[in-house]
Amino acid sequence: MTGSASAHSAMRHVPLRPFGRIVEAPAGSRISEIPVEKLVRWTEESRVLVLRGFSLLEKQEFADYCRRWGEVLRWEAGEVIDLIVEENPKNYLFASGDVPFHWDGAFVEADPRFFFFQCLDATPGAGGETVFSDTTAVYRDADPALRERWSKISLTYKTDKLAHYGGEVTERLVAQHPATGMPVLRFAEPLDPAVYKNPVYATVDGIDAAEADDFLATTAELVHRPEYCYAHAWQAGDLVIADNFALIHGRNAFTGPTTRHLQRVEVI
Ligand SMILES: [Fe+2]
Repeated sequence: MTGSASAHSAMRHVPLRPFGRIVEAPAGSRISEIPVEKLVRWTEESRVLVLRGFSLLEKQEFADYCRRWGEVLRWEAGEVIDLIVEENPKNYLFASGDVPFHWDGAFVEADPRFFFFQCLDATPGAGGETVFSDTTAVYRDADPALRERWSKISLTYKTDKLAHYGGEVTERLVAQHPATGMPVLRFAEPLDPAVYKNPVYATVDGIDAAEADDFLATTAELVHRPEYCYAHAWQAGDLVIADNFALIHGRNAFTGPTTRHLQRVEVI
């Protein structure tokens, strides 16, 4: 048996609820030992893949590894974004409050297929779980009348550029997953300027203006239902790969002081 084959047989796959999977490997395993095609398949099947027991990568190594999956999105700050909670941030992503649902890269030209996180430090029990909502399941459960209504809707999002993103974008609510072909919802929650440091404004096309607020509220309620959401409580050493088309994601507020440090890379 080769080293790589024995590493595979030592891995344990644990299904998460209501979706997702943890792959646990003996300490010191390398993510590069698993063929990328296999990891892509697991990610598409599970939508969120949590790898535990694997060695974390140096910053440049992390970007270079992700390049094996596809083109890496380059932000002004570089290919790897450090997510550390700050005292007085300009952008809510770096604050300790909640982060409403969105998909990554809405305000850049390219639509990332996957995003990768590695967790360098975490404070268990202090909140801040990353919450993923499976929009393929939300769509699956919608009745024909609702699907028909959704098919006519487009949303325009606007935000100021205070961190590594900003601008205006219009998207149809229902899009097609580029790999699986399944319908997905491109829904981001508007951010109230009274609550968030960098508000996101949403305007809705395809329904009566009078119904827009109700549409935004009911859709937000729907995607937050527990049967569609997996909340990831971070442990230092976690590597997480998520499907940025099938899912939208956000973050629970922190409930206490945290030293959490994540690094994130987006693959187009
Ligand atoms: Fe995000």
